[in-house]
Amino acid sequence: MKRVVVLGSTGSIGRQALEVCRWRGYRVVGLAAGRNLEELSRQIQEWRPLLVAAAEGLHPELKTRFPWLRLAEAEEVAALEAEVAVAAIPGLAGLAPTRAAVRTGKRVALANKEAMVAAGPLLWQEAEASGAEILPVDSEHAALFQALLGERREDVAELILTASGGPFLREPRDLSRVTPEMALNHPRWRMGPKVTVDSATLFNKGLEALEAKELFRFPLDRVKVLVHPQAYVHGLVRFVDGSLKAQLGPADMRLPIQYALTYPERGETPLKDLPLPGVLEFLEPDTQRFPALEVAYAAGRQGGVAQAAVSAADEVAVAAFLAGRLPFPRIPQVLARVLEKTPSLPLTWDNLFAVDAWAREEAKRWA
Ligand SMILES: NC(=O)c1ccc[n+]([C@@H]2O[C@H](COP(=O)([O-])OP(=O)(O)OC[C@H]3O[C@@H](n4cnc5c(N)ncnc54)[C@H](OP(=O)(O)O)[C@@H]3O)[C@@H](O)[C@H]2O)c1
Repeated sequence: MKRVVVLGSTGSIGRQALEVCRWRGYRVVGLAAGRNLEELSRQIQEWRPLLVAAAEGLHPELKTRFPWLRLAEAEEVAALEAEVAVAAIPGLAGLAPTRAAVRTGKRVALANKEAMVAAGPLLWQEAEASGAEILPVDSEHAALFQALLGERREDVAELILTASGGPFLREPRDLSRVTPEMALNHPRWRMGPKVTVDSATLFNKGLEALEAKELFRFPLDRVKVLVHPQAYVHGLVRFVDGSLKAQLGPADMRLPIQYALTYPERGETPLKDLPLPGVLEFLEPDTQRFPALEVAYAAGRQGGVAQAAVSAADEVAVAAFLAGRLPFPRIPQVLARVLEKTPSLPLTWDNLFAVDAWAREEAKRWA
């Protein structure tokens, strides 16, 4: 029986990962979450994990409810003996636990795209040393991973990520009056607040282009984005002869999560008989209305710590938008300003953390 650790267990990906573990009969040995006491308590009750991480404020109540419980830091949970760790704590907060999981040589089912964007080459160094596999959970990267299986790297011309286009694909034309409620109302996916707002600005797709660059170690100028409102084709690989290979399926994160857990095997799921959609559209992204996508590409071209800087700035800008302090169209402006001022430094762990702290302060000034 596979042993699994779920980091970010009370969130959208975490809960779906636990559902997959239920489907497959896996043993969940560790849980890491933040502040959601009731959901975490339900999970502890069900899974009786060996180790749990939670916000410190929750510890006394958790100890009262579960006197046998062993509490630890998320990094310790990540390092537990297990076959797979699902890394689904968003933002830079997810980096240290992801790194800890990679260092212990287990398979990492990676949802936390910000970790790969900020620290990709460093994480790969750790993975090469420990023998860890890093498999994508993000549906687009899971699709590319599948389309690339059995292919020669030199035959690949382009990686194409699809974007549903978010809630503002066509309307409203004027984005200055967009509220957090509107931005959180994604037409296709039910996700956590940060990634949902990123989907509305299209910065999420920018992060995903950078994630593809790092995950597949592929040149960014050959990573493309197409808007595909049906969200049925998740990613395509175009080969040098002009042919394309795609991975299609229902917009349901439990599929890529399961594949990252079971690879190279597949397991039956309740989603296996869903009908195909009648129409599939592919459109060029509108970078005039959604300039955040271009900012991400500019950071990727700059290299070094620039990707970490814009990713950190985005966490601050999205939080300010959700708190009603920053208008929606200012989010990409904050990112662009931080990028403009980002020092040109090579990517090392020390530089990464220094630039992350600097970029957050800089973003707060502009936001
Ligand atoms: N949701 C999706 O469909 C989707 C798709 C592709 C990629 N992703 C990526 O997957 C990651 C997770 O997204 P999500 O939508 O699942 O987010 P989410 O719903 O906001 O859940 C975040 C999880 O992380 C926990 N958490 C937050 N800060 C933490 C900290 N400092 N220490 C420990 N735990 C912490 C939260 O705990 P509490 O809730 O208990 O506070 C929660 O369990 C993101 O990087 C996102 O970009 C998500």
